[in-house]
Amino acid sequence: MNIVITGANRGLGLGFVQHYLSKGDEVWACYRSSLDGLADIQSDKLHTVQLDVSQDFAVKDLDVPESIDLLINNAGIYGPYGGQDLDSITSEAMLDVFNVDCVGPLRVVQQLKDRIIQAGGAIANISSKMGSSDDNGSGGTYAYRAAKAGLIIISKSMAVDLKPLGVSVITLHPGWVTTDMTHQSGLIDVQTSVAGMTDVISRISDYELGQFVAFDGQVIPF
Ligand SMILES: NC(=O)c1ccc[n+]([C@@H]2O[C@H](COP(=O)([O-])OP(=O)(O)OC[C@H]3O[C@@H](n4cnc5c(N)ncnc54)[C@H](OP(=O)(O)O)[C@@H]3O)[C@@H](O)[C@H]2O)c1
Repeated sequence: MNIVITGANRGLGLGFVQHYLSKGDEVWACYRSSLDGLADIQSDKLHTVQLDVSQDFAVKDLDVPESIDLLINNAGIYGPYGGQDLDSITSEAMLDVFNVDCVGPLRVVQQLKDRIIQAGGAIANISSKMGSSDDNGSGGTYAYRAAKAGLIIISKSMAVDLKPLGVSVITLHPGWVTTDMTHQSGLIDVQTSVAGMTDVISRISDYELGQFVAFDGQVIPF
């Protein structure tokens, strides 16, 4: 399979790269500015592509294959740590996080969808349970919650719009994972999260259109 992964230089993105390379797939690993963990991988099936998802111009003319079996929109930011409550959240932080976490995946899909349609492929959008209104019992975290909620909604629209064209779309929650984003806290490691999410992706047809699914296969209300 030809697989494109954004935010692939560290954390969950790097875990996805390692998983699919170990299965023998061809991986186009997109990184924003630094190769980080990608530099340590020796594989002729790994192709690195510079991509900042926050800019319209940056997603154009990407050096990826004509036929893409799987796109994983993984790149994301949390926004200011400790500065996302009702009193401290700023317009700038709201817009920055929304631009990367919600508009970013949309930009990438707009650019690559014809290549995914050609393969009859799939798209996995990595959101977060923090974007579930149903799950929000603690409030706060305005920017990250709103951006990830927006991603769940646009991912559902993508699922509806692309189904007639033979493309499957799913929205995923990785769990609470030990990465830089969680300051290496978390309940599970990257390998556990990626093993679960890739299993869900491999069973994408088991799920209803546009469902939001956790790494353990459970459907999350949103
Ligand atoms: N870890 C968790 O517990 C958890 C839970 C729920 C959802 N998620 C989601 O899972 C995804 C991966 O998270 P993670 O924990 O692996 O986070 P991470 O370790 O902080 O990695 C984030 C990745 O996104 C990339 N990125 C950030 N802004 C970008 C941009 N403008 N363009 C392209 N790439 C960009 C980063 O690249 P740089 O190295 O260049 O910054 C990095 O590769 C995110 O969407 C996150 O919201 C994570």
